[in-house]
This record gives sequence, C-alpha cells and structure tokens, in this order.
Amino acid sequence: MKRVFGFLGALAAAFAASSAHADGVLDRGAYLMNGVVACGNCHSPKGPDGKPVAGQELSGGEAIVAPIFTAVPSNITPDPDAGIGKWTDAQIIDAIRNGKRPDGSIIGPPMPIAFYRDMSDADAKAIVAYLRQVKPSPKKSAKSEFKIPLPPSYGPNVTSVAHPAESDKVAYGRYLATALGHCMDCHTPLVEGRNDMSRVGAGGNVFGLPGGGIVKSANLTPANANGVARWTDPQVKSAIQDGVRPDGGQLVRLMAFSYYKTMNGPDMDAMTAYIRGLKPAE
Ligand code: HEC
Ligand code: HEC
Repeated sequence: MKRVFGFLGALAAAFAASSAHADGVLDRGAYLMNGVVACGNCHSPKGPDGKPVAGQELSGGEAIVAPIFTAVPSNITPDPDAGIGKWTDAQIIDAIRNGKRPDGSIIGPPMPIAFYRDMSDADAKAIVAYLRQVKPSPKKSAKSEFKIPLPPSYGPNVTSVAHPAESDKVAYGRYLATALGHCMDCHTPLVEGRNDMSRVGAGGNVFGLPGGGIVKSANLTPANANGVARWTDPQVKSAIQDGVRPDGGQLVRLMAFSYYKTMNGPDMDAMTAYIRGLKPAE
C-alpha cells in the first residue's frame, strides 16, 4: 500500500507542478497580449471609441490601407475553419516569428515580423497559450491585397530565441520596445520598405488615419528638441499609457494606449530607460 500511495503522491505532485507551470505561462501570455504586445490593436475589431469590441477579441481587425496594400488582420481565434484552431503550437510560433503559414505562404505587411523574429521561445509559447483560450469566432476574414510581391522569407529561419535577462534594464527595455511591442517599427524611418535601424527611434513615418488625414510618428531620440528627452519619466509614461502629452494635448489614437496601460512598473521603467538611451537621430 505504501508504494501505491508513494506513487500517487508523486503523480499528484507532478500534476500540481505541471498545472502551476501552465498557469504561469497563461498568466504571462495574458499580461503580454493585453499589454505591450497588443496583437489585438490590429487583430481585434474596434468600436467608435477605438477600444476593442467586447466578446470579439482577435476575430479580425479592420483593413489597413496603404499605397502598396490593403491588408486584413485575420481572425486568429481558435475556430478550426475561420481561425487558427487547426494549427499546432509550432506552426503558430512560425507564423509569428518567421511570417510563414502552415501551407508555406508568407504573411504580408504590416504585421511586424522583422521585430517578432527576436521574441523569446518562452514568450512565444505564452502567447500561444493565450491564443488557445480566446473565444472561437466563425467570422471569415477577407483576403489581403498586395500590389508588391511579398518576400520569399523574412530571413534565415528562426527556430529558438533565448529569453533576455530582465536584470539588464536597458537591454530588457529594448526587447520590450522591439521584439514584443514593435514600438520601433512605427518609430524608425523606413527606407525602401525596411526600417533603417541606424536611425532607430527617429520617427517621421506617415500613417493614414481611419477618419481621413495623416499623422507622423514622433522622433523619440534626443534630437527632438521638444520630445521625450526633455520630459520627466511620469510624462513619458503618461504619453505611452494614457496618450496624453505633457502640454495636455491628446496623441492620435494609433498606438495601443488601452493595452499599454496595463504594463507593470518595472517594464515601464525598463522601456523608458531604453528610450532615453537612444542615440540622437534626425
Ligand atoms: C500592425 C498590425 C498587426 C500586428 C501588430 C499583428 N498582426 Fe498578425 N497579421 C496582420 C495582417 C495584416 C495579417 C494578414 C497578412 C496577409 O494577409 O498576408 C496578419 C496575419 C496573421 C496571421 C496569419 C493568419 C492566417 O490565417 O493566415 C497570424 C497567425 C497572426 N497574424 C498572428 C499575430 C499575432 C499572434 C500577433 C501578435 C504577436 C500579430 N499577429 C500582430 C497584422 C498584424
Ligand atoms: C502603429 C504605430 C505606432 C506604434 C506601434 C507605437 N507608436 Fe508611438 N507614436 C506613433 C505616432 C503616429 C505618434 C504621434 C502621435 C501624434 O502626434 O498624435 C506616436 C507618439 C509617441 C510618443 C509621444 C512622443 C512625442 O514627442 O510626442 C511616445 C512617447 C511614443 N509614441 C512611444 C511609443 C512606445 C513606447 C511604443 C511601444 C510600446 C509606441 N510608441 C508604439 C505611432 C506608433
């Protein structure tokens, strides 16, 4: 009897450990998806207030229109037909980091694959755990149209990425602002369709707004005489998390303020430290 109990005890302990692990992974996924990663800023339908529509999370976003594409952020809920329910974990991670679907086709812009390539295995798995428990939606997404040929790949196949040390504040802040949040995608000038990373953070990219009109992304480097380098930390955080400038002006609703709002203190500190360390660039 003792042996049996011993065995059951070990089994129970192993089960408890694995479910605690699973919860930790899902918690991390929820923190990322409702925070800095914000896939929903593209992939979820939004109401007139710019906030995601309740109950329709990740069921497909509004088409993003640019001179070279009309791109439809697809339904990425677990629905087996309209969404990605039939994809394996590895296939979903491949889509995020390599921009490749299970059938080998390439996911087009503006999904920031070039940034997601640096996402750690642990964070990619956490995001998959979150995607698996979103409410399935049968809503079929329209097809994107690209007026340019898509690249055959986004670079050498990424198979494994180590998680960066959170103790190195600036390096971890960089990870948050690039691989996870793709802030530097919008905030780094484009040259022939690619971010010129020698001028990372210099801004100046033009975005069309849903209601018409355009807006340029801000220069976050110290070269901007009225910019972030002159602001206090709380002012920088308020711009990112509330969309409010130090002068009280409202930033255009393009960034995922309502998501960034949930980022924790240490992550906001790390990201702010990284932005402050950007080298001046026009
Ligand atoms: C800037 C907007 C944007 C962001 C941010 C974004 N995506 Fe996408 N995503 C798109 C667009 C647009 C497409 C469709 C591209 C196409 O048709 O080739 C797409 C396609 C996909 C696909 C392929 C779906 C299919 O059925 O073909 C997956 C999977 C996906 N995204 C997952 C994610 C995840 C997970 C995140 C966050 C880590 C994310 N996306 C962030 C815009 C975005
Ligand atoms: C979809 C593109 C996009 C993404 C992603 C994005 N931004 Fe922005 N950001 C903009 C645009 C456009 C503006 C200017 C808005 C305006 O002028 O009203 C801006 C403004 C700002 C400002 C105000 C700076 C100033 O001088 O006015 C800060 C700070 C900022 N972004 C930081 C970030 C951070 C940090 C992230 C990632 C967590 C991020 N942004 C993600 C497009 C983006």
